[in-house]
Formats: sequence, C-alpha cells, structure tokens
Amino acid sequence: MLPEMPELLDHQLLFVTGKGGVGKTTVAAAAAIRAAGEGRRVILAETGAQRMPGLFGVPVPPRGEEVQVADGLWTLAIDTPLALEEFVAAQLRSRALVQVLTRSNMFRAFVEAAPGARELVAITKVWELVQKRRWVRRRPAYDLVVVDAPASGHGLGLLRTPRTFADIARVGPLHSQAARVREWLEDSRRTAYLAVALPSEMPVTETLELEGRLRRTIGRNLTAIVVNGLLPRRFSPAEIERVEAELDGAPAAAAARTQAARSRLQHNQLARLRRGAQAPVSTLPFVAREALSLDDVRELARRL
Ligand SMILES: Nc1ncnc2c1ncn2[C@@H]1O[C@H](COP(=O)(O)OP(=O)(O)OP(=O)(O)O)[C@@H](O)[C@H]1O
Ligand SMILES: [Mg+2]
Repeated sequence: MLPEMPELLDHQLLFVTGKGGVGKTTVAAAAAIRAAGEGRRVILAETGAQRMPGLFGVPVPPRGEEVQVADGLWTLAIDTPLALEEFVAAQLRSRALVQVLTRSNMFRAFVEAAPGARELVAITKVWELVQKRRWVRRRPAYDLVVVDAPASGHGLGLLRTPRTFADIARVGPLHSQAARVREWLEDSRRTAYLAVALPSEMPVTETLELEGRLRRTIGRNLTAIVVNGLLPRRFSPAEIERVEAELDGAPAAAAARTQAARSRLQHNQLARLRRGAQAPVSTLPFVAREALSLDDVRELARRL
C-alpha cells in the first residue's frame, strides 16, 4: 500500500508527529514493529507518557531504562535529568565528580531552569541512541530510533533547540554537541519526519501548515503523511438510493446514509490533503475497537 514505507524505515531517526490524539503513538508503534520485523534493531523513544510497556505486556521499567519488548524491538521513555547525567559523565570520565553533581541535584535543576534545556537534552538523547559510541559504554547502538514526538507545537520546539543552542553557544562542547544533532536533523538521508493526521477538515489544515512550519524550523519537508482512522468507502450514491428505496424509512437506511456521508467527508478531506501536501499521503483504516490490542497494531504495521 505504501511504496515509500521501506525507504522511510531506512533512516536512522524517524520522528512521528501530529496533533494530539490523532494516533501518533499507534503509528509510531506500528512503524517500529514493521522495521524490527524487517530485521533492524529498533528502539521506540517515548517523550511523553510511557505507553509501550503496556501495549507489549511487559512490566513498566523506570524512566530512562531501555527495555526489550519484542524481537529486535526495544523501548525507552526519555528521562531528561538521567540523560543529562549520562551525557556529562561521558564527557567527564570522572565518576566521583559525576556523583557529586548527581547528589547535588544539579542535573534536575538545570533541565528545569534553563529554557529549552529539557528539549535539547531529550533530542540529544534520541541522537545518542544511534551513535556507535554510546554515552554509557557497552550499550549497543540501534539501527533506528522511532520517536513518538510530542504534539505538533511542542514537537517543533524539540526539533528547533539544537539550532538555537548551537547559535547561543558559539564555541565549546555545548556548541559542538548541539551542532552535531542539528546536522543530523537536517540530513535527509539520516532523519525522516512522518506526520499523522485524521481525515477531517481541521487536522488536514493543520497538517498542511505543519509542512511549512517544519521547513521554517529545520529546512526539511515532511517525508510522509499517514491519514489514520479512515473509514472505507461504504456505499455509492446509487447504492444508497437502492437501500433507501428498499428500506423506506427503516433505521438501517438512515444509518447507511449517515455512514456514507461520514465516509464521503473523510475521503474529500483526504483528497484535499493529497492536493495540498508535498509529501506522499498514505492511509490506515479505522479499527472499530474500544482499545487497540497489540494484534491490532501489528495488523496496522502490515498495512503501513
Ligand atoms: N486506526 C485506528 N483505528 C481505531 N482507533 C485508533 C486508530 N489509531 C489510534 N486509535 C486509537 O485512538 C486513540 C488515540 O491514539 P494514540 O494514543 O495513538 O494517539 P496520539 O496521537 O498518540 O495521542 P496523544 O496526543 O494523546 O499522545 C487511542 O485510543 C488509539 O487506540
Ligand atoms: Mg501519544
């Protein structure tokens, strides 16, 4: 269904973004399952709530701990103070000094006080997961990090910080680290951006705007867009007429008409997105279930 999907998963960083509640976490999980199934060593990095352990039925590890959830698939909920501690420890190579700093709560104070520091640390941690030389030695590198990014506005903030910090700190280790991450984010061979949208007017408008905002923020286009929760094209107008003629006035006829109207609106919005967007647009079906199970997400992964 999606010829560009293998290409999407060939990157080392894959950011999944979009409005709140559109299915970012679901699509990120599906993409990660798909990439792991193709033999890559994949980690799904969660920036918000820790949802992956629950989905895969493994005990919730402490934040900041990488845990395996399936063959070739790990997950991590990014803990910014811990990530900063690992970064500083890797620079200092003096365990004693790091312990002093940790005990003094310096890391927590820094990420909570400096504007943008939390985002910078989080995105640098994402970058670190695919480096051959990890901050904590002997941790193996991953082939791909799928990032379940925060909703659009915050997601862009996350992507913007390396550039901001590289500009503020003109020289020194902070500058060179931030500049390195920035270089990766801007590199179309290494990093891909996947937007998730729902097939209705506002989300489509916002996704079209997101393309421009991403370009202004890091000079990149969206790599692909997934329209999630699409209803099938149920009945053609001719079929509706037949149903109405046969079921004159029956509730089933009204239900069919409502379904058809909803589906038509969705497909119109999908067409509008396809006309307006530069990135290729693919779709995932609506799964009529109260809560999606791991099997449901695996099925979505196959359809990606
Ligand atoms: N294709 C689908 N069909 C049916 N339900 C879906 C589909 N995709 C996601 N959902 C459900 O919709 C809800 C929102 O999905 P999800 O948590 O992935 O969105 P999100 O964008 O990550 O939300 P948030 O912004 O809160 O993090 C969940 O209950 C999920 O199970
Ligand atoms: Mg989510």
